[in-house]
Amino acid sequence: RKRVAVLISGGGSNMMALAKAAARPDFPAEIVGVISDKADAGGLVKADTLGIPTFAHVRKDYAGKAEHEAAILAELARLSPDIICLAGYMRLLSAEFIRAYEGRIINIHPALLPLFAGLHTHQRAIDAGMRIAGCTVHFVTEGMDEGPIIAQAAVPVLTDDTAETLAARILTVEHRVYPEALKLFAEGKVRMEGGKAVFALASGGKPEQ
Ligand code: GAR
Repeated sequence: RKRVAVLISGGGSNMMALAKAAARPDFPAEIVGVISDKADAGGLVKADTLGIPTFAHVRKDYAGKAEHEAAILAELARLSPDIICLAGYMRLLSAEFIRAYEGRIINIHPALLPLFAGLHTHQRAIDAGMRIAGCTVHFVTEGMDEGPIIAQAAVPVLTDDTAETLAARILTVEHRVYPEALKLFAEGKVRMEGGKAVFALASGGKPEQ
């Protein structure tokens, strides 16, 4: 089983979806630790109840971004993960950090990338008059929310949606898609190569599940 470290900043519902999937004996990955940049992230308590080791490294406790990332990298070195999952981790990782785990960091973003990268994605999708929205799991590269796409799912945008109601609808599909994407990656059925996602294909040209 592949060793997975999860980075969070908040409630950790995606981290929990990954942890629940990983609790099944046939899942190809296990969660070996959860690291947060917020001491009060709700996800830390949730991970703790599952017996997953948790670590908080708060940005303001470090002199700068480089020192903060060094502390997280040192934690990761102890956990020796094969894969890092960003799950609502609201900081941009430096190029040096990403290079240290080249092709092994994946992220979930609550929009149909390449549309609506960055913050306030739900409101921006509503303001653009989109009739569908969704989520994307992708490899992390230096550009924010720019890496090759592993999996996506769509939901309708309802005429009376607010950013909050749309976010809640997208979150339910995030919880399904992120474990599926992690499974695909952990089984070696998708990898990043030459800046693209390369899939092992089942007959019919669909990614093998
Ligand atoms: C999720 O919707 C995730 O896609 C989003 O933050 C939320 C975290 O919720 N991530 C981003 O916006 C990253 N740019 P969670 O803590 O309950 O998983």
